[in-house]
Amino acid sequence: MSITCVVGVQWGDEGKGKIVDWLAERSDVVVRFQGGGNAGHTVVARGRKYVLHLIPSGILHPGRLNVIGNGVVLDPEQLLAEVDGLRGRGIRVGRNLLVSDRAHLVMPWHKLLDRLCEEGQGKSKIGTTNRGIGPCYADKMSRIGIRVGDLLDPSLFRERVARVLSEKNRILRCLYGHPPLRAAAIIRQYLAWGRRIRPFVADTVDLLNAAVSRGRRVLFEGAQGTLLDIDFGTYPFVTSSNSDACGIAAGSGVPASRVQRVLGVVKAYVTRVGSGPFPTELLGPEGERLRERGGEYGATTGRPRRCGWFDVVAARHAVTINGIDAIAVTKLDVLDDLAEIPVCVAYRVRGRRVTAFPADVKSLAEAKPVLVSHPGWRTPVGGARRYGDLPPAARRYLAALARSLDVRLGMVSVGKDREETIVMDGWK
Ligand code: IMP
Repeated sequence: MSITCVVGVQWGDEGKGKIVDWLAERSDVVVRFQGGGNAGHTVVARGRKYVLHLIPSGILHPGRLNVIGNGVVLDPEQLLAEVDGLRGRGIRVGRNLLVSDRAHLVMPWHKLLDRLCEEGQGKSKIGTTNRGIGPCYADKMSRIGIRVGDLLDPSLFRERVARVLSEKNRILRCLYGHPPLRAAAIIRQYLAWGRRIRPFVADTVDLLNAAVSRGRRVLFEGAQGTLLDIDFGTYPFVTSSNSDACGIAAGSGVPASRVQRVLGVVKAYVTRVGSGPFPTELLGPEGERLRERGGEYGATTGRPRRCGWFDVVAARHAVTINGIDAIAVTKLDVLDDLAEIPVCVAYRVRGRRVTAFPADVKSLAEAKPVLVSHPGWRTPVGGARRYGDLPPAARRYLAALARSLDVRLGMVSVGKDREETIVMDGWK
């Protein structure tokens, strides 16, 4: 099928990078449609590790077109650092990368306000990545954002920066006692970046729709995960975009009706970075063990991730929101030495059994997981390349996850490398 979307089913960091990389090899166009430099997609190819924040993972495959859609918020400094880093490692970045002229620019005040606002929140802070994501999307909605296309018109860009910055400087001074940012320096720096970005800038909407109409294989690469979605996640402890399949149409201009299959990526357990409720979180040595075995430290910020058992209630919610057809289960190998693997099948909230994912964070914070244990396999699974190579208990665990979500099993990842992947027949 030619139009595929890959989304995170949990709170991000499900290992989408590796799955997208596998699918990118079998695609013509790879598209990012939301989020920004807050994402960190890790791909290990032939023993070399690449962490991509803004550029779609298709960049690692020659001949693929990579598109940063209008729904992405773009920090030009970060984009260029990524371009230089890839080129420095021998990866071609040129006409194989396009940036939508409608994408909004992350400006210095966004990053500054992200940090200052978080610092002022004390205990109720979101735990953002400090990349300016929330303030940039807020300005987009307030209709005072500055877009990539504006960078190409210096006089328009100067005018916009001057207008927006005078308001931002008032906020900085009055709310935070912060000295003003200087328009001239910002304008000079951004216009210089703009000259370097110009060759990548395009109206990507027609181009993408034409690719779809011509039957090109297009892959939409979701960043973060459904539980961080601004509408359907654990609000307010979420990111500021529709970080699931709901974001495709608005973030790329390709109608949702064109998407033919949605692959949801789930870790064999669950992790979360930042604050917010996490019903299956393990605060003791079991959580520590998952963190160490799974190398659960943020690809963007290096922060230790909170770890917990697989949560069917939350995952079912994500399956519904995204219309997920199949799941890719990652990091199965992290569970190799466990005798028992608990899975959360319902919550208890104030004495009541709940199987629908609650909208309010208070209920979620109070939710106690109802756990059902599965026998572990206690054998390394890293060498398995076909489903039949997996130990029976591992197959039973995977089948139970897919059954509980009422989806097919599409892929299983048993290690970091590209090769350490099992692909079920329907996904080849
Ligand atoms: P922001 O996206 O930087 O505003 O952060 C909002 C929340 O989303 C915080 O809890 C972050 O830790 C989380 N978050 C943002 N991007 C990612 C990601 O790529 N993986 C996991 N969590 C993320």
